[in-house]
Amino acid sequence: MTMKPFLPFLTVALFFLGGCGLEKPPASLEFPGAKNDAAPVAAPVAAPATAEVPTDPKLAAGKTVYDANCGACHDAGMMGAPKPGDVAAWAPRIAQGVEVMTKKSIAGFTGKGGVMPPKGGNASLTDVEVTNAVAFMADKSKGAAAATATPAVDPKLAAGKTLYDANCGACHESGMMGAPKPGDKAAWAPRLAQGIPLLVSHSNKGFTGKVGMMPAKGGNAKLTDEEIASIVNYMADKSK
Ligand code: HEC
Ligand code: HEC
Repeated sequence: MTMKPFLPFLTVALFFLGGCGLEKPPASLEFPGAKNDAAPVAAPVAAPATAEVPTDPKLAAGKTVYDANCGACHDAGMMGAPKPGDVAAWAPRIAQGVEVMTKKSIAGFTGKGGVMPPKGGNASLTDVEVTNAVAFMADKSKGAAAATATPAVDPKLAAGKTLYDANCGACHESGMMGAPKPGDKAAWAPRLAQGIPLLVSHSNKGFTGKVGMMPAKGGNAKLTDEEIASIVNYMADKSK
């Protein structure tokens, strides 16, 4: 790997230069004093959460990718990037499922905190490298995840919870855009009063309510009606 933690910013800068008619980016992206991969340095501020090398080889590989490509923003919490080890910041993210976070990290996304560039701005990273880096970050940050991930006992509710985590938690876990949080009894009481069948129908077809827009099947058209029903039952069970 030859990329520097500064690259995301350079990439953005070059992107704009490109737009101004500059033919090609400068061949050399060397910076005096730029950090070198050979000696991955932790961010200037000590970052104890990411200091030790994990024993699991995948996580160790992920740490190397992270140090070289992701720490520039994430170690410092720059521009809203969640710091590994900040359990509160990560809990709702981990609740989406690590695969979802990985996909978003590969594709890039804009969240409430800011912009996460595709692959952290280093397009030469493979999907596997990003996957390992995300696994490393999630592993560092899962501390209290167990608290939000109270296992549901009923197997149907447990199945609903798994689907919820993967498809619905992104909005509902954080209350994003007005999505009612499971467990928020006040928010759910009037909804539950409508009856589960209507909630399932709203979730299947999508609807616009008083606080916002619930996309059909949470945006995942592949979910079956039965799967949606099991998720809604899980959400309702947590909120009654
Ligand atoms: C230019 C700064 C920057 C760099 C570099 C960067 N990130 Fe991010 N990242 C962000 C920001 C900002 C967010 C928070 C976005 C939000 O939720 O508003 C974020 C969020 C994330 C999340 C949480 C995803 C979620 O679904 O909530 C993961 C995982 C992540 N980054 C992984 C990585 C990985 C892996 C790398 C390195 C390959 C990386 N980031 C490099 C800025 C950066
Ligand atoms: C993009 C964000 C988003 C995603 C993803 C999402 N929801 Fe929602 N959901 C909302 C919002 C916003 C509301 C509140 C709408 C209102 O009442 O104004 C809502 C409301 C609901 C309600 C209450 C319905 C009612 O009649 O009051 C249910 C049930 C629900 N969602 C289920 C789900 C399920 C199941 C999934 C995953 C398959 C999911 N949601 C994914 C944003 C989302």
